[in-house]
Amino acid sequence: MSDPILSVEGVVKRFAGVTAVDGAGLSVGAGEIVGLIGPNGSGKSTMVNMVTGEMPADSGTFRFDGRDITALPAWRRARLGMARSFQMLRLFGSLSVEDNLLLARHISMKRSMWESVLGARPAREEEEAVRARARELLGWFDLAPFADRKVTALSIGQQRMVELARGVIADPRLFVLDEPAAGLSPPNVDRLIALIRRMRDEFGISILLVEHDMRVVRDLCDRVVVLDSGTKIAEGPPAAVTQDPVVVEAYIGRGWKRRAQA
Ligand SMILES: Nc1ncnc2c1ncn2[C@@H]1O[C@H](COP(=O)(O)OP(=O)(O)OP(=O)(O)O)[C@@H](O)[C@H]1O
Ligand SMILES: [Mg+2]
Repeated sequence: MSDPILSVEGVVKRFAGVTAVDGAGLSVGAGEIVGLIGPNGSGKSTMVNMVTGEMPADSGTFRFDGRDITALPAWRRARLGMARSFQMLRLFGSLSVEDNLLLARHISMKRSMWESVLGARPAREEEEAVRARARELLGWFDLAPFADRKVTALSIGQQRMVELARGVIADPRLFVLDEPAAGLSPPNVDRLIALIRRMRDEFGISILLVEHDMRVVRDLCDRVVVLDSGTKIAEGPPAAVTQDPVVVEAYIGRGWKRRAQA
């Protein structure tokens, strides 16, 4: 197998009184969809926040695309090709759907907004290309009719699609998704599964995904990593991992059945 696009080792994160991540590691191969699962409070969001650089780790090594990114802040990791979505949506609610995409692209582009505004000719051409790409992606995510609407006027399901489109417009190599299926109706979960698979197949984006919905995990993930109290307790194909007695044990009494069937 070629080198992984993401490889994380020996990560520790302590908050006052709690060791949220306790020496765990994980990797994502090029073109792979990896699920990060575990009971509530097992350290999943903390782990992905450290992967994307939103939160510093107390210790551990982070490598992305063959390069040590441990010391790099979130915006530099984003420029290297990491996108993310949040467990709680973080869109610009008062902007239109299309403007949310344009803004995301501007933030990720090497050329600054100023250069675009001042209108050097290549910048204006780039601007047009970005706008065309935004429209194409809105079509791709079934959002074209909503391009000019404010984000807050959309349903939660549509807002989640905007989050995905906003990540994809930055042309990431790795997309980190924290509970993308949360709050979605079953038909929208089906659409989400199909779209994430297409993001990988058509755009070649590797995916690290935190998810409680076991249908998403089973249908989508090539491999699953299980955290419990900040430690990796299992890793492997979803069918095997979700039947592993150690994993089932970790979830018992912590809402596994309730959430898995939800
Ligand atoms: N900013 C913080 N300050 C203090 N403690 C925190 C902070 N963030 C997380 N924790 C604690 O760290 C542990 C891991 O939390 P984390 O949010 O990473 O879990 P999770 O696996 O994402 O859970 P969930 O499935 O509920 O989203 C929990 O005990 C949590 O209370
Ligand atoms: Mg979480």
